[in-house]
Amino acid sequence: MKIAVLRETAEGERRVAATPETVKKFIGLGATMAVESGAGERASIADQAYADAGATVGDRAAVLSGADIIFGVQGPDPASLAGAKPGAWLAAGLNPFGGGENGGRAKVDGYAAAGIEALAMEFMPRITRAQSMDILSSQSNLAGYKAVLDAAAEYGRAFPMMMTAAGTVSAARCFVMGVGVAGLQAIATARRLGAQVSATDVRSATKEQILSLGAKPIFVENVKGIEGEGSGGYATEMSPEYQKAQAELVSSHIAKQDIVITTALIPGRPAPRLISDAQIASMRPGSVIVDLAVESGGNVEGAVAGEVVERHGVKIVGHRNVASRLSADSSALFSRNLFNFLSAFWDKEKGGPVLDAEIGDAVRLTQGGKVVNARLLG
Ligand code: NAI
Repeated sequence: MKIAVLRETAEGERRVAATPETVKKFIGLGATMAVESGAGERASIADQAYADAGATVGDRAAVLSGADIIFGVQGPDPASLAGAKPGAWLAAGLNPFGGGENGGRAKVDGYAAAGIEALAMEFMPRITRAQSMDILSSQSNLAGYKAVLDAAAEYGRAFPMMMTAAGTVSAARCFVMGVGVAGLQAIATARRLGAQVSATDVRSATKEQILSLGAKPIFVENVKGIEGEGSGGYATEMSPEYQKAQAELVSSHIAKQDIVITTALIPGRPAPRLISDAQIASMRPGSVIVDLAVESGGNVEGAVAGEVVERHGVKIVGHRNVASRLSADSSALFSRNLFNFLSAFWDKEKGGPVLDAEIGDAVRLTQGGKVVNARLLG
C-alpha cells in the first residue's frame, strides 16, 4: 500500500497532509510513504525529516507512480494526478460546494473521469467515533485561537486591565458570535488574554458552554424556534422573527464592544449576515471585527476575503484560510485526523483500509468513474 503526500499548490496554503510523526505511524501499519519534495516546507518540516521518518522524497511523478492513496490538504487539480493507480483514493478537504481554484463540482467530476476515488474529509459524519478524524473541528479550533490573536494585533489597545503608576488601562470587551468549535476556542483565548468576553449563538445548548468558559451569554429569548439546532449538531436557518430579534439584541450590545469575532456558518448555505454597516458605525473607532466566515459569504457587511479593511474607523479582518496561518500545528492535527481515519479501518490481511458504510458513504464523492455521494446527487 503506497501512500503519496502532495505538496499543496493552492495560493496561500501552507499546510501539509502528513508529518514525520504520521509517516512513521503509517509505516508501522505496513504502508510505504512517498512525500513530494517541499511538501512540508511551509509548515516548518524539511524533506530530510520525512526521509528520516522512513519516507521516500521525490517529484510529483515519482510519488504518484503506483500510489494507492493520495493525501492532500486541499483538492489537487485532477489533471495533476496522472500516474496514480486506477481506483486510487484521494483523501483531502475537497470543498465540493466551493468555487474557484480551491474546490467546486468541476473538480469532483474531474476526479471521477480520472478514475480516482475521492474522499472529502470535511464530510466526516459528526458521530462520536469520528471525532478524532474530523478536520473541520481540528482546523476550526486553531482558527478560533488565531482569530483572537489577529484581532489583538490589529487593536491599538491592550486586552487585559492594567493598573499602572500612570493610570488604569481598561479591559477590552470581546463579543464572540457563533459558538461552535472556533467560537469556543475564541472565547477561551480572549479570556486568557484578559478580555471581558460575551458570546451568542442560535443553538441554545451553547449557553451552558459559554458560562462554563467564564463568558456572558447574550441570547434572544421568547421567540418561536430558538432551539436553533438541526441535524448533526449544526445550526439551522432561523425564522425572520428570530432574525429581527437577534439584530435588535446585537445592535444594542455591539455598540459597547471593542472586539467582535464572528464564526457563524450553516452547512450548505451562505453564512448568515450578523453585522450590518450601521452596526459597525455604532462601534468605537479603533474597534476590530474578525470575520472567520468571510470565505463562505461573510457574517459582516463590508468584510473582504483576504483583506483587512476599515469602515467607520473599525478594522474588519477577513483573512482567508486562517488555520493555514498556524501551519505547523494545523498540519500536525490534520495529519493525525487522516491517520486516525485510515488506521481505524486498516485491514491487516489486505494491508490497507476498508471503509464501512456509515463513514465511507458519507465521505466518498466518486467511485468507478461516477459521482456517488448523496449530497452531490440530491
Ligand atoms: P459551524 O462551523 O457550522 O458553525 C459555527 C457556529 O455558528 C455554530 O455554533 C452555529 O450554531 C453558529 N451559528 C449559525 N448561525 C448563527 C446565527 N445566525 N447567529 C449566531 N450563531 C450562528 O459549527 P461547528 O463549529 O462545526 O460545530 C457545530 C456543532 O457540532 C457543535 O455543537 C460541535 O460541538 C459539534 N461537533 C461535533 C463533532 C462530533 O461529534 N464528531 C465534531 C465537531 C463538532
